[in-house]
Amino acid sequence: MTPTDQSAIMEVAALASGRRSLLKTGMAAGLVTVVSFFNRSTSAAPVQKTGKAGDIDLMNVALALEHQAIAAYDLGATSGLLKGDALALAVHFQNQHKAHRDLLNDTIKKFGGVANQPLAKYEFADAAKIKTAEDVLVFALGLEAGATSAYLSTLTKFATKELIPVVGGIACDEAQHAAALRMALKQQPAPDAIVK
Ligand SMILES: [Fe+2]
Repeated sequence: MTPTDQSAIMEVAALASGRRSLLKTGMAAGLVTVVSFFNRSTSAAPVQKTGKAGDIDLMNVALALEHQAIAAYDLGATSGLLKGDALALAVHFQNQHKAHRDLLNDTIKKFGGVANQPLAKYEFADAAKIKTAEDVLVFALGLEAGATSAYLSTLTKFATKELIPVVGGIACDEAQHAAALRMALKQQPAPDAIVK
């Protein structure tokens, strides 16, 4: 992993840390931040790679988000706050993020790239302030809605067109997670006709 890769992953982790507090002030702000990160990583880098090399970079940023999501669900599942159906839902979603991770890992390797590894430790800002099951669900909702938007923002950037339905499929799954979490929070599960 290059210093640039490490820096990108650290930045994703930092964004994840701040996402819950962003949710407190408005979901949209958090989503914009995540999408901006993707755009910055892929279009404003000093040397933008093209072709398969660019695809590998995109997938590695997505992989960093999946590593972070898996760690976040560990936090939620081990908090002791989730019980019954809510806990089962969280475990199911985490398993699907692991499937996304495995798919990205395999594809990066198939493309001749080196898949980024998870950080040794993830720090989530304000994690100590999560006091209720609802807090955990709101935290997860921010993560899932942000991931959906982040994936959507990458779709036109892939040089390998066959990757678009794969990445789009992951985005759809993240959106399903967000809808289910909204239902668990007794919110409108599908607030927007067009997800951005
Ligand atoms: Fe995922």
